[in-house]
Amino acid sequence: MPETLAVVNCSQLVTLVGAKRARTGGDLRQLAIIEDGAMIVRGEYIEAVGRRREIEKLIGDQCELLDAGRRVVMPGFVDAHTHPVFAGIRANEFEQRASGATYREIAARGGGIRSTVRATRNASQNDLVKAGKRYADWFLRTGTTTVEAKSGYGLTLEDELKILRAIKALNDETPLRYVPTFLGAHDLPSEYKSRRQTYVNLVINEMLPRVAEEKLAEYCDVFCEEDAFTTDETWQILSAARCHGLGLRVHADQLSLSGGAKVAAELNAATADHLENTDPTGIAALKAAKVQPVLLPGSVYALGSNRYPAARQMIDAGLGVVLATDFNPGSSPTPSMPMILSLACTQMKMTPAEAISAATINAAYSLGRGDEIGSLEKGKRADFVIHEASDYRELAYFFGIEHAWRVYASGILAFSRGVSEARA
Ligand code: NIG
Ligand code: FE
Repeated sequence: MPETLAVVNCSQLVTLVGAKRARTGGDLRQLAIIEDGAMIVRGEYIEAVGRRREIEKLIGDQCELLDAGRRVVMPGFVDAHTHPVFAGIRANEFEQRASGATYREIAARGGGIRSTVRATRNASQNDLVKAGKRYADWFLRTGTTTVEAKSGYGLTLEDELKILRAIKALNDETPLRYVPTFLGAHDLPSEYKSRRQTYVNLVINEMLPRVAEEKLAEYCDVFCEEDAFTTDETWQILSAARCHGLGLRVHADQLSLSGGAKVAAELNAATADHLENTDPTGIAALKAAKVQPVLLPGSVYALGSNRYPAARQMIDAGLGVVLATDFNPGSSPTPSMPMILSLACTQMKMTPAEAISAATINAAYSLGRGDEIGSLEKGKRADFVIHEASDYRELAYFFGIEHAWRVYASGILAFSRGVSEARA
């Protein structure tokens, strides 16, 4: 008999229960909050959610009680765009940018993604898992229970497989859930500088078949950008990926209006990510093709830019907006979804409720897991967080602090704040 746990005494149980699809328009503001709510968890899954009085009747003798202490209880964040497996860090480039260099200038002189590729190629799978565990702890302690995880710092068959196997190991060995994405087309490796199509062919003919055969990825992504892959190359790679049964995601219009959003729409991708430079035509194309935009304000902030994606226009157009960290060692070194909520509200004028929907249920749908995670309801995974707050808006309002007090992934305690840090 699996163990049961009753979560009681919540100030707000933010359930996100609603239509069984990504939320759009006014529905983004409906968090389905139960004041003074309670929840029963049996093993890995949620058994009941409701008002305290209804739930109390269901609490049996064997049930362990978890007193939330009048705190907010919410689904774990679903971070739908991360690059969490890499070797080395790039604090040197951060310092150069602080002194005036741009991300593109640093990349053009051999830094950027290529510098992380050099370090990652030199690392063993074990080294990558070890580094990845440190970041897994960071995700969990900020309240994230699922991450989409991209490869892309190997750019050879063996190095890409090594990263994807490290992601699999992290999924098996940590409480964090990883949804793997193959990003062999993250950058053109310097050794292929004058042989672009040869590299594209390598991705299509050698990497993709192995990744699919070994079931190492659920999605394929391409960095579609002037400095990386053209729309035509993106098209070639993603069409091949679709033939292997992979879902599609695109790094689109990040540094320029590269046409990535249009390609994502034409290919019916699950998501188009970044979109800092997408124009109204691109937004309309995403809407027509039901592609979800994944907005990454952490990378805009960390690159010292002020060109945030047009979140309000996307919401007005009826798109199922998603927010994610883009955690990576270059453009967005943060694992913190609460930081992203803050940026979404202050810089993109999303409301706290819209931001929370984008960071949970909409992110879950963008990963094809809307029926499993992203809200607190019967039958879903017991991925929930008790935050040190009595009102959900505090998560976006107080910034630069860690809110999570207890984090549960599939019913297992994955992070607990130390006694000295807890509210008396
Ligand atoms: O999403 N744009 C491409 N990829 C990452 C950056 C990776 C890096 O700088 O290492 C991004 O911002
Ligand atoms: Fe990215």
